[in-house]
Amino acid sequence: MRAARRKTSRPVAPATLSARLGAHVALKVEPNGEVVAHFYGHSVTLGKFSAAAAHRIDELRAGLPLRDFASPRRATNQEISRLVRRLATHGLLEFRLGHSRRGADKVIIEPQVPDYWPQTPRLAATDTLALSRFAYMRRRGSDLVLESPRSRALFRICDAKLASMLAMLVTPQPLKKLRQQRDTAGIELFALLVDCQILFKVDAVHGGGLRPSEGNDSLVLWDFHDLLFHARSTEGRHANPLGGVYPYATSIAPLPALRPRWAGITIDLGNLPTTDTDSVRSTAKILRERRSVRSFDDRTPITLTELSRFLESTARVRSQWTAAFASPGEGGPPMTYTARPYPSGGSSYPLELYLSVDKCDGLDRGFYFYDAGEHVLVSIDVRATELEALLKSAAFAMGESGVPQILITIAARFGRVSWKYSSIAYSLILKDVGALTQTFYLMATAMGLGGCAIGSINIDLFARMIGTDFFVEGPVGQFAIGRAGPSAASR
Ligand SMILES: Cc1cc2nc3c(=O)[nH]c(=O)nc-3n(C[C@H](O)[C@H](O)[C@H](O)COP(=O)(O)O)c2cc1C
Repeated sequence: MRAARRKTSRPVAPATLSARLGAHVALKVEPNGEVVAHFYGHSVTLGKFSAAAAHRIDELRAGLPLRDFASPRRATNQEISRLVRRLATHGLLEFRLGHSRRGADKVIIEPQVPDYWPQTPRLAATDTLALSRFAYMRRRGSDLVLESPRSRALFRICDAKLASMLAMLVTPQPLKKLRQQRDTAGIELFALLVDCQILFKVDAVHGGGLRPSEGNDSLVLWDFHDLLFHARSTEGRHANPLGGVYPYATSIAPLPALRPRWAGITIDLGNLPTTDTDSVRSTAKILRERRSVRSFDDRTPITLTELSRFLESTARVRSQWTAAFASPGEGGPPMTYTARPYPSGGSSYPLELYLSVDKCDGLDRGFYFYDAGEHVLVSIDVRATELEALLKSAAFAMGESGVPQILITIAARFGRVSWKYSSIAYSLILKDVGALTQTFYLMATAMGLGGCAIGSINIDLFARMIGTDFFVEGPVGQFAIGRAGPSAASR
């Protein structure tokens, strides 16, 4: 009797990771060898390259396998590698995972931060993987995208089979079981996703469920929507258009400055008798005079004495106590509370002040933490380039060429609020920022100083400066302050 032939499956070629130009980017080689990238009406010069390297640039449109130019054997590889890294820094590159150059795309990786480079950490057969609770898939145009506020890249999933493979990971799966899947792109993808914290290795000894096994206590405290809101409504961790770009100016009319009046009985408030006391009159005067000041008089900068008075009046801790509630009617485990000049949801006071000082009479240029309990400034060592970048981005946000004399970055210790509040933690923090910002404005006005709130902050830059994960303590507001310049007075 003939033995039954064992059915053998054809080996699947390993998936290849390639770098390729974003669809919106065109590269032009100038006669002097300079390569210029053109995109959305902008252009960036990427440096000079040899004719041989420039010749290979066209290959970047289809995709250059990373392993091809990783080896120094070919003379142009180092140059191509330099060009590709520069393109990546400007967000002009994407990475493609597929089985062959001409085959269908499996996954396209879109970097979200300038220094993203795909990494495939080694996964052991004994590893068990699970999908992060911060990861989500959604439709973007006609693409299916996989994202996470923790990830430094976005993954366009082009093969529905990979999407269902990922769906399996809502429950932890041993890698040896996942390896039984025939698609090697899946295994390569898992490593890329572990690197981006979209998948994580489940710690076998962790008995507390998946949530604690994904990260530390600071991460446990975050609600999904809050971390996504924080990472997407600030700068530094995504590549979406940001700020006043008027995306709908050509298709939707702007809302009027004043809401159309309701039809109803009208009560005129303008002709009532006033019974103002001195304090009402002076408060109303300060409110009337408050305005944003964006340019400063650097010949007579703000003094350390003024800064001390400003911080003392707006942010210094007035008292501290321990209780099971912050205000009547509340109850819970005992916590330490403080009282400060501005209001805070549940008396949590999660906000901390970090000062980037450019010019202050009596205080060296540098980066400082304001200890609101002790009313002292503590200097923090940061790179000069990072301090400069923070100050310059504030100047840019204000449309000014000169940096502010002092930039106050309002950072939140997120866990202080989310330990107690579900669903509303991040929104409470932003409301606190609004209350503190107005307190800053009013005190600056009363002291004859100039100040301006700033709406966009790079949370990744700040995380590098203070050496803390972006989800532990991070910026949620900024305020520029200094001696008002002459142009401000005339406004
Ligand atoms: C949350 C918030 C964010 C702001 N962001 C900026 C900013 O990034 N750049 C800027 O020049 N002004 C900024 N401002 C100031 C506003 O532009 C200013 O308050 C508004 O134009 C009204 O002018 P006034 O403050 O002088 O009354 C911000 C104000 C607030 C409250």
